[in-house]
Amino acid sequence: SAQDTYLKNIVKFPLGASVNPRMLNENEAYRNIAKEEWTSLTAENHMKMMLIHPAADRFDFTKGDEIVAFAAKTGKRMHGHTLVWHNQVPQWMKDFQGDQQAWEELLKNHIQTVASHYKGKMAGWDVVNESFLDDGSLRPSLWADHIPDYIAKSFQWAHEADPDAILFYNDYGQDGKPKKMQAILDLVSDLKRRGIPIHGLGLQMHINVDSKRNELQEVLDKSVATGLKIHLSELDIAVNPKNNPDFVYEEKVASAQAEQFNFVFKSYMMIPAAQQYGITFWNISDKDSWLRGYFKRPKEYPLLFDDDYKRKPAYNSLLNYL
Ligand code: XIL
Repeated sequence: SAQDTYLKNIVKFPLGASVNPRMLNENEAYRNIAKEEWTSLTAENHMKMMLIHPAADRFDFTKGDEIVAFAAKTGKRMHGHTLVWHNQVPQWMKDFQGDQQAWEELLKNHIQTVASHYKGKMAGWDVVNESFLDDGSLRPSLWADHIPDYIAKSFQWAHEADPDAILFYNDYGQDGKPKKMQAILDLVSDLKRRGIPIHGLGLQMHINVDSKRNELQEVLDKSVATGLKIHLSELDIAVNPKNNPDFVYEEKVASAQAEQFNFVFKSYMMIPAAQQYGITFWNISDKDSWLRGYFKRPKEYPLLFDDDYKRKPAYNSLLNYL
């Protein structure tokens, strides 16, 4: 039936993408995909510290609110990204001087102002993003450097501001990095033991066409074993990770990529329904992928929609084989 021609109708969990408000406004094809294909949306950038908290005494919710309004109008779930991160921090925070108490006040105020503003509109939040290095050590950052135990404190503060939100720890590249994976599992055990509210793990899933499936499966299995909700929060599958300028996206590569998408979806569909928070793609089409923009890899094709905002064969292969 016509219904079955949408991926969102095949899966039983929310399915979405990260979006940019300017593209939603200006590009009809982009907007239509957000509207017709997905059931959940995440702000790609506009709820991050740098954009939402541009000065010590000023928050700017305009763009985040636009996305939330679009989501409300089109019946989407909203996922919040992200309250605490080492990256995309405004200059005034980098310049901030103060003792531990002053830093704690700064971070608490940030988290609680943003979470309160969006209270009732967000299903969940990435509370802390990318805190661990590959060797499992705590990543140096403004927060790690100035606030002991900042991860636990952040979850506590977020929970106080929005007690109904599902709170996530989000990270990338756990596959093939057992120490990083273990650090995340240890964090979860520690927070649970101390009664700190954490409800979910976000696995970004910025993977490659040849990422090892046994390693991806192990990450998923270990994450599921925590009992927390699991969000594949930023899925994309790179086909030209080394940015070869002569790369050609030939059919062979596209079908290997489709198989990798199938693997990810099938593995996720096997986890208990109660733990399926959903799958979110990072960006709408190959054309607006962050791998092209941010990483300057012009010959990258990591998503389910092509440069003309048309479904790629990988989309149809998911429809046919899931
Ligand atoms: C990226 C955005 O896509 C870019 O537009 C921005 O310039 C940098 O950040 N992990 C995350 C996301 O958690 O917030 C990042 O988003 C991609 C990697």
